[in-house]
Amino acid sequence: MPFAFIAPDQESLPGKNWTTVVARTSKSPWLHNGYCDPGGFMPYKKAVCDYLRQYRGLRCEPEQVITTDGTQQALDLCASVLFERSDKIAVEDPYFQTHINLMEFRGLKPIPIPVTQDGIDIEKLKKQKKIKGVLVTPCHQYPLGYVSSAENNEKLLAWAKTEGAWIIEDDYDSELRYGKKPLPALSSYKEGAPCIYLGSFTKVIYPGFNMAYMVVPKNLITVFEGAKLLIDRHSSEVHQYILAEFIQNGFYYSHVRRLKKIYEKRRQAAVRAIGKYLSAYGHIEGANEGTHLTFIFNHPQDDVKLSELFKRSYQIETRPLSACYRSAKPLTGFILGYAHFTEEELEHAVLKLKDALEQTLG
Ligand SMILES: Cc1ncc(COP(=O)(O)O)c(C=O)c1O
Repeated sequence: MPFAFIAPDQESLPGKNWTTVVARTSKSPWLHNGYCDPGGFMPYKKAVCDYLRQYRGLRCEPEQVITTDGTQQALDLCASVLFERSDKIAVEDPYFQTHINLMEFRGLKPIPIPVTQDGIDIEKLKKQKKIKGVLVTPCHQYPLGYVSSAENNEKLLAWAKTEGAWIIEDDYDSELRYGKKPLPALSSYKEGAPCIYLGSFTKVIYPGFNMAYMVVPKNLITVFEGAKLLIDRHSSEVHQYILAEFIQNGFYYSHVRRLKKIYEKRRQAAVRAIGKYLSAYGHIEGANEGTHLTFIFNHPQDDVKLSELFKRSYQIETRPLSACYRSAKPLTGFILGYAHFTEEELEHAVLKLKDALEQTLG
């Protein structure tokens, strides 16, 4: 259903090279019949490390990579290893609700800090006391799509050093930057900075595969491995083997290049159609990257109610923007996934959304 956030279509899937690696692996499944190291399967860790060095500027060793089942598990490991119950963790406001819910589930206290076009508002962050960590999306703020400036990143690093706080960098979607080279990750700025880097393959491979990783400082490798061992022993070695093969043979890089071409065209089609048909109602925010667009209403609306109505009556899936806010005065609008729909489908869906808005708001 358009504009579902996660709905991989045939063109977005990793294709023949992927099925070849999977088929080859399935011929000898006994190669992976024992328990794996809790930190992960070394060839996968090496492949991730090479990728991070080359594309994200991270100077890390394979041992620092901990394999996780999705970003969610990486964040869960941070919650148990780095923090204690009731610790205050600064989060961008707005942000991804599931990750905030997870922190609360683990007994942490998320403290919402507004974001500006330059990144998390450092002055507002400085006003908070006894913050033990901060969770940020510098390369593609979720949901607004802003890119933090290098200056803001430097200030955040300086703040973390002074406060003795951890920076958890959620680098989701960073490989999908259109027309430009990916920006270096914040975690790459300063060696020895108190950063935990979170990366994921769920968007570029497919969500059901649920493979991700984190990069931790050398002195915390053992404790993160221990926590992973206690949670679920290890992530699937077969899945790690498949991904390692896919990356090391260069297939991952060509898949990303192909996806970028497809998604950029789809993004342009959605932007064009929204500009043409919906400008009376709102506008788009955010950088030219990722898999979603953020549509902001010109005049505040009850986006939660509209989302429910549009799904039920018009078969359009829209995530309400205001639901991502904790304390800042919410902007209202829709988070629209465009990556998994053809240009024609997107034009058609925008027209449907126009119709829905006209019928509801006039
Ligand atoms: C803000 C944000 N971070 C990370 C992810 C990736 O999460 P996972 O690896 O658990 O799929 C997503 C996916 O939608 C996201 O929206």
